[in-house]
Amino acid sequence: MSSSLSGFAPFVFLLLVIGGTARPLYPLPGKGDHGTKQPLQTFRPYNVAHRGSNGELPEETREAYLRAIEEGADFIETDILSSKDGVLICFHDVTLDNTTDIAKYKEFTDRKRTYEVEGVNITGFFVVDFTLKELKSLRVNQRYCFRDQQFNGKFQIITFEEFITIALDAPRVVGIYPEIKNPVLINQHVKWSDGKRFEDRFVETLRKYGYKGSYLSKHWLKQPAFIQSFAPTSLVYISNQTDLPKIFLIDNVDISTQDTNQSYWEITSDTYLDYIKQYVVGIGPWKDTIVPEVNNYVMTPSDLVARAHAHNLQVHPYTYRNENKFLHFNFSQDPYKEYDYWINKMGIDGLFTDFTGSLHNFQEWTTPNRQDDKTASELLHKIAVLASAYE
Ligand SMILES: *[C@@H]1O[C@H](CO)[C@@H](O)[C@H](O)[C@H]1NC(C)=O
Ligand SMILES: *[C@@H]1O[C@H](CO)[C@@H](O)[C@H](O)[C@H]1NC(C)=O
Ligand SMILES: *[C@@H]1O[C@H](CO)[C@@H](O)[C@H](O)[C@H]1NC(C)=O
Ligand SMILES: *[C@@H]1O[C@H](CO)[C@@H](O)[C@H](O)[C@H]1NC(C)=O
Ligand SMILES: *[C@@H]1O[C@H](CO)[C@@H](O)[C@H](O)[C@H]1NC(C)=O
Repeated sequence: MSSSLSGFAPFVFLLLVIGGTARPLYPLPGKGDHGTKQPLQTFRPYNVAHRGSNGELPEETREAYLRAIEEGADFIETDILSSKDGVLICFHDVTLDNTTDIAKYKEFTDRKRTYEVEGVNITGFFVVDFTLKELKSLRVNQRYCFRDQQFNGKFQIITFEEFITIALDAPRVVGIYPEIKNPVLINQHVKWSDGKRFEDRFVETLRKYGYKGSYLSKHWLKQPAFIQSFAPTSLVYISNQTDLPKIFLIDNVDISTQDTNQSYWEITSDTYLDYIKQYVVGIGPWKDTIVPEVNNYVMTPSDLVARAHAHNLQVHPYTYRNENKFLHFNFSQDPYKEYDYWINKMGIDGLFTDFTGSLHNFQEWTTPNRQDDKTASELLHKIAVLASAYE
């Protein structure tokens, strides 16, 4: 009893502070002060917050992205799909079943469908069969049962525009890393009245919020973005619409590309890297294809990182996760050891992580960002000013 009372006062203070700076959710467009923000760090591999800080909070929600920004993400990552009425949203699965509370809604029970997705028949509640309004009425759940469940049913699905606003409103420059997700399926099921394709809408949205410019250009550094996709056709299609840097994602060795039906071996060949480098600045492979795993031990790495670098392509592997079940035995159940291996031995250029805070701490301890010193003291000053307003 007494402990819960003593916890109450700081909570009220927090409410006051939040309340004091409150503004309506998602004023669009983001009204950040882009000119004077702490810049993106570019001297060490990028910390890409995979679906936000989804190791802690339900994936691809505003809350997961805000947590990732707090924890030091360089980029916040998201999967773009479309609602039935053509609004681009942030959501990973093509079905709502595994990460929302859709099962609770009686009015939607007749929406279950079976569609062929990348050569497999899937039965469930498909995102493309729900309007944005309907999607907004659902709440997102944590994907994995071994992660914190206390936020289940609390947070909404967000739109691509809301996602962009979160990045633009961040207190420092935070990049975005959106994926053109399942373009084959989306273009089959969603038709836009003006005859535009999913990819067109995707690029238009980025343009609307001022995202443009080639990798490391002056404009790009103000609003950094990487566009990613597993579908090479989509990356080639948008190449004359935007010069933003693109990353070609590479799936497991037994999965062919969803659009061109090419094998892993074909798309990682020197011939293909030569071709795709006209369109992309890098590749995003599943990490266990670069360093194969046998009985949970890591084996001799392939030469993919070296070959990609020889083609002047960056390598941003996915996905780094802290939990024991995802850590190969060679890393002594220590995620820092895994980061050390990939950053210092494999020499990769960016990491998709479910635990942005852990990667950030590792990088700050091993290769600190000097820019932070100034910002930390500025932040302390701001807090002091804010606190004095309540004295
Ligand atoms: C999916 O189901 C349809 C209808 O039953 C069938 O025609 C098709 O062959 C199935 N596809 C696969 C990949 O199993
Ligand atoms: C839910 O997740 C399981 C396990 O990953 C997967 O096999 C299943 O297809 C998913 N269900 C739907 C409807 O997507
Ligand atoms: C981009 O190229 C495609 C063909 O490669 C063409 O159909 C399209 O009109 C071009 N778009 C622009 C904006 O130039
Ligand atoms: C994809 O390629 C494989 C191997 O070449 C082939 O067996 C399969 O039929 C192809 N699938 C489609 C949908 O074209
Ligand atoms: C990982 O550990 C296994 C078993 O001890 C060993 O065979 C393997 O070489 C190690 N992998 C690397 C990359 O050192």
